[in-house]
Amino acid sequence: MSGRIPQSFIDELMNRVDIVDVIDSRVQLKKAGHEYKACCPFHTEKTPSFTVSPNKQFYHCFGCGAHGTALGFLMEYEHLGFVEAIEDLAGQAGLEIPYEQGHSQSSHPHTGKLYDILERASLYYQQQLRSHPQASQAIDYLKQRGFSGEIAAQYGFGFAPPGWNNLIDELGREPFALKTLIDSGMVVEKGRNGPYDRFRNRIMIPILDRRGRTIAFGGRELESPSGEASGPKYLNSSETPVFHKGRELYGLYQARKTGSRLQRLLVVEGYLDVVALAQHGIDYAVATLGTATTVDHMEVIYRTVREVIFCFDGDRAGRAAAWRALENALPAQREGREARFLFLPDGEDPDTMVRSDGKDAFEARFQDARPLSAYLFDTLMQDLDMSSVDGRARLVAAAKPLLEKIPDPVYKKMMRDQLAQLARIQADHLGSASQPASRQRVPPARPHSPPARTPVRLAIAIILQHPGLVSQLSELPTLTGIQHPGMDLLCQLLEIMNKDPHLNSAALLERWRETEVASHLSKLAQMELFGDDQGLLAELQDTLERLSGTATDQRIDELYDKILGQTISETELSEYNQLLANKKQHHIKSKSGGN
Ligand code: UTP
Ligand code: MN
Repeated sequence: MSGRIPQSFIDELMNRVDIVDVIDSRVQLKKAGHEYKACCPFHTEKTPSFTVSPNKQFYHCFGCGAHGTALGFLMEYEHLGFVEAIEDLAGQAGLEIPYEQGHSQSSHPHTGKLYDILERASLYYQQQLRSHPQASQAIDYLKQRGFSGEIAAQYGFGFAPPGWNNLIDELGREPFALKTLIDSGMVVEKGRNGPYDRFRNRIMIPILDRRGRTIAFGGRELESPSGEASGPKYLNSSETPVFHKGRELYGLYQARKTGSRLQRLLVVEGYLDVVALAQHGIDYAVATLGTATTVDHMEVIYRTVREVIFCFDGDRAGRAAAWRALENALPAQREGREARFLFLPDGEDPDTMVRSDGKDAFEARFQDARPLSAYLFDTLMQDLDMSSVDGRARLVAAAKPLLEKIPDPVYKKMMRDQLAQLARIQADHLGSASQPASRQRVPPARPHSPPARTPVRLAIAIILQHPGLVSQLSELPTLTGIQHPGMDLLCQLLEIMNKDPHLNSAALLERWRETEVASHLSKLAQMELFGDDQGLLAELQDTLERLSGTATDQRIDELYDKILGQTISETELSEYNQLLANKKQHHIKSKSGGN
């Protein structure tokens, strides 16, 4: 159960993780001087303008302006929420999150309850498969399909007993629990006699998200001895706040658990295809959830591996599904990513094939899988007479809109060249290449102009980029009472660094996430600074003193006004005298210092 994540933990996490590792495992980085570079994952480009600074623990793209910390990168790149990204990073760093009890920090405080009830439902169904008197039919069916008890347990198979209220009775009796069951899609709210269990007398296949949490179920009907159906073969959870079909892949969690062994993913059509393949040692298959493969699926896949093989039945439905997959794979294609298409003989599916072939023979079929480009052009040319001008013109007309879906300029050019060759025309006769559609979701607009260098900004920039310098300041000038934009922020930064001298840049920046000043701060984190640590320390000290001087002057003026207006108090008068004396002394000091 999640509660609030304490600030001190976020600090520690930001100090512990290395942004270079976090990004490099997703976007290959090349060392360039003190920094690392790559082509920006958030917009399309040919020359790398995406830089990662190990010192600042910050990334920045000079092309599109995208920037942030390791945490921000994960949120952007992996489409994660704040809490999810923290959990992900903590997992990678091997840190346990010390959740605080009380209100949840996640933007959907309710989702915690949904995960919880779905998990309990899953355990309940698994328990029923082992112990319910009527579970034997389900067990027999699974056995007869060749599934071992081991694999059934590994994939969390369960049994929803017949009856309208089993789950409601089990989990819905506590206050508010019924509402959570309804929200999680497990209970249908409006039956003739009130709410009822959605899944009845079905084999329950839990759907896990990439972190292994149960987010939904597929419920398979039990084949009645007469073979006749009593409803749809599969009943699936509806969309809920924690389950979006178009983004999830069945089996991905298990496939990812194989770790570095995971080199490619095999996309198949059915839940039970995935499980049958796993049982035969092919543990890298995933399935969409009764939907076509979406562009989101493709992004999820390519974030995990570079190579994907779509494996569809050879029938009409299989071909249609493959074509949809191709259309949605195009936007995700770029150099280094691969997609191939494998069609099984008519009437076979991966489940039956792997049972008759075994692992090695099944994998040997991958050699026949067609590369995406070949599949695309061959399919389009199928009914065309390519020896005629008319046929070739039709090919061009049919292929062009598909190629337009490719944002990556290099891959797109290769495809256009191939099309030109097939159509026997020159590539530049294919018409002007329209601007590649951008892959990015949140256009960070034009690259920003750097902010002007005022003393306050300079001081903030130095602290953000070199927080360790604060503990080396010889004295901390008083800055209170200065009416100056940014002064509050500067004071806060100094205070935080005084308290926690070990914080790094990323930890500092994360303190202001989602506040109005966040974007201002990240600009300052990118401000170009000149000089080594010693030089910057001197510059910071000097800037702070000058600011403090301004503060004193402002206060002196203010008090002087009061003297003139005869409204000054005793204490204020002595403050005035003290300030004047300090100022004189400071003046003498800096004179004799030879500056
Ligand atoms: P299949 O009918 O191929 O299912 O449908 P399967 O997983 O191979 O199961 P078996 O072998 O027939 O028992 C492929 C996928 O289409 C969705 C499911 O996601 C299923 O895994 N589907 C199918 C539904 O959502 N509803 C249905 O009624 C049928
Ligand atoms: Mn099947």
